[in-house]
Amino acid sequence: MAWQRYLKEFHDQNAAITEHVLGRCADRDGRDPYGWLLEAVPPGGRVLDLACGSAPLWPGLRDRPYLGADTSPAELAVARRAGAGPLVRADASALPVAPGGVDVVVCSMGLMILTPLSRALAEIARVLAPGGVLVATVPDRRPLRPLDLAVAGGLLAALGAGLGYPNDRALRHLPDLLVQAGLRLDGDERHRYGYRLRSAEDADRFASSLYLPGLPPSRHRRARKYLRALSRLNVEAPVPIRRIVAQRTAPPDARTWPS
Ligand SMILES: C[S@@+](CC[C@H](N)C(=O)[O-])C[C@H]1O[C@@H](n2cnc3c(N)ncnc32)[C@H](O)[C@@H]1O
Repeated sequence: MAWQRYLKEFHDQNAAITEHVLGRCADRDGRDPYGWLLEAVPPGGRVLDLACGSAPLWPGLRDRPYLGADTSPAELAVARRAGAGPLVRADASALPVAPGGVDVVVCSMGLMILTPLSRALAEIARVLAPGGVLVATVPDRRPLRPLDLAVAGGLLAALGAGLGYPNDRALRHLPDLLVQAGLRLDGDERHRYGYRLRSAEDADRFASSLYLPGLPPSRHRRARKYLRALSRLNVEAPVPIRRIVAQRTAPPDARTWPS
């Protein structure tokens, strides 16, 4: 409950912050994490963008039936202003979509906070047509370059706290959770992105994008100061990301049993 209250306030106050940071992250080829997610999305078919936020995935999906769902009115308002839609205010644990109503569920940077994860995965499986695909990204701790360890270590020292999410433990057992929900893990990759800190504004934006429930304001200030110092050196903050691809298996009553 505490996390849910925190998330609501965070996104009311920082709508579109994830897009502002991730949209400026790049790998060696200049590709951002949204592009990487979209590369794994099969062509054609109806898409549900779960925890869509400001709908940064919508431009890549606008030529097919699309529905964006999120709990935050502030995020949905930004998405609406950008022309994304249709959009619905809905919780991942009770999606207003008929069983088998979509062919693809995309979920960028959501599965680490959708609680309970087993319930969200069951809903994803319910709304996916058999053979349908889930493509999701979540933050991760690797891969990192040698310099990243120093940058991340300095940030954690300034924060005096780790960066954690409610579903960190559950995500370590994702293949089993997926199977329980009626999904099969087809792809599980990690990729490093970097967010280049070029200015104090970049530093502040990066600091504002981090979920840090309960962190004292003094620690926030220290983290901003540290990131601003890095921005004078034009350093990259590492953003390692995990991409998951899973397929909806046939529900038990649709399977044919040997006679
Ligand atoms: C880190 S942001 C990601 C937003 C967007 N997908 C992106 O990648 O830019 C997480 C989003 O999840 C939404 N969210 C949090 N809990 C949710 C829930 N239980 N059901 C649906 N959306 C939720 C938040 O409002 C927020 O927009």
